[in-house]
Amino acid sequence: MPSQLHCLNSACGAVYAIGEVIYTCPKCGALLEAADRDLKLDPDAAKRTWRERRMSNAPLDQSGVWRYRELLGFFDEREHCVVTLREGNTPVLDAPKAAAYAGLDALTFKHQGFNPTGSFKDNGMTAGATVAMRLGMRRVACVSTGNTSASMAAYAAAAGMTPIIFLPHGNISHGKLAQALEYGALTLQIEANFDQILALVRVLAEKTGIYLLNSVNPFRIEGQKTIMVEMLDQRDWRVPDWVVVPGGNLGNVSAFGKGLRELHALGLIDRLPRLAVVQAARSAPFYDYFHNAERAAFVSVEQPETLATAIRIGDPVSWPKAIHEVETSGGVVEKATEQEIADAKAVVGQCGIGCEPASAATLAGLKKLRAAGIVAADADVVAVLTGNVLKDPDYIFKYHTGALKTPWGEGIAANFGNQPVVLPNDAERIAAFIGERTGARN
Ligand code: F0G
Repeated sequence: MPSQLHCLNSACGAVYAIGEVIYTCPKCGALLEAADRDLKLDPDAAKRTWRERRMSNAPLDQSGVWRYRELLGFFDEREHCVVTLREGNTPVLDAPKAAAYAGLDALTFKHQGFNPTGSFKDNGMTAGATVAMRLGMRRVACVSTGNTSASMAAYAAAAGMTPIIFLPHGNISHGKLAQALEYGALTLQIEANFDQILALVRVLAEKTGIYLLNSVNPFRIEGQKTIMVEMLDQRDWRVPDWVVVPGGNLGNVSAFGKGLRELHALGLIDRLPRLAVVQAARSAPFYDYFHNAERAAFVSVEQPETLATAIRIGDPVSWPKAIHEVETSGGVVEKATEQEIADAKAVVGQCGIGCEPASAATLAGLKKLRAAGIVAADADVVAVLTGNVLKDPDYIFKYHTGALKTPWGEGIAANFGNQPVVLPNDAERIAAFIGERTGARN
């Protein structure tokens, strides 16, 4: 049985054909997942095949998503024309300095910022765009604080579809806006926040038939789950104790949890890592849910705030999936302040790695989880850096020069600041200054 769309509300349990253009259950409104629940694989053969494909020049094999296509049950090689920019293939990097900062013996980053448009969104977008083409869509849309729009614009352009992006006015990085413009997206800046615009775009998609490519789209989640598959493949299937990820709309943690559960059920891994989700302190409804003794109701945050714009989300669409994944994995949820995120980001930079603010929430959260004794010093930890360092150059410059401020007027101290220096055009003085600052001679 190939993949179907399953309603995740167990009281409803409706099942739909994979070709239906729906994002949530038409009967009860719950989230849907694309899954082939009868899938069986020979684990050793699958691992061998995936490794061999790394030697291949075929586009599908070169993609770090489609290389694992046996796990993408909705994909039919005869019917789909895959839209790929060779996404995935992102490195796992050891970061001793970041480990020491968090109080860990060792730490590995899986860096999704190495993707074609600079974030993990490409892993999901290749799947979403491929399905859009299969469905005969001409126009695709998303709301975004930056990364989703750049990614969708690129994949739509590559496939010859028209990308329409909705941005919260004044709340997007110029680097990302520039990408969307360059890829030819119809770019609409709306005077509302992310949550409000997502609600609007969902209505518009329904009304106009424009295909929605936010992470409420179950195929995006399918693409993103391969981030975990690739990470395990790169580690020769050694399962880490923890996987740490920032939480905004909660699509990524939903995708990771689903991917890991499937690998476990298929016998490719023998246990599940625990998921740790980190939110920004003033945009933390998921944290609030997990830290409320009864875990009774999910309450959104009306006015989410954070300089880490990618996770400035108060009404995350995937929260029911994310709760399930965190609970199933024995996971935890942490939150980090603006200062903690900014300092952690600078430390990731000092490792020669670099990332955007939302990604740095992982290291900031890990430091707190370590201090609280939840993560052990000798734990095997993979933190996912979701986006590229070049996303927010303005933020970086302000941090290093001591000029970074929160929207509510709190100054961020440049604890790991690195100021540029202005000097006169004078070789002797410059040499003296360098000597003073660096001491050493080559
Ligand atoms: N990290 C980065 C770099 C992101 O761009 C996002 C989301 C997240 C983390 C949060 O991931 O939503 O799956 O929990 N960015 C969206 C966007 C909002 O529009 O690009 P999530």
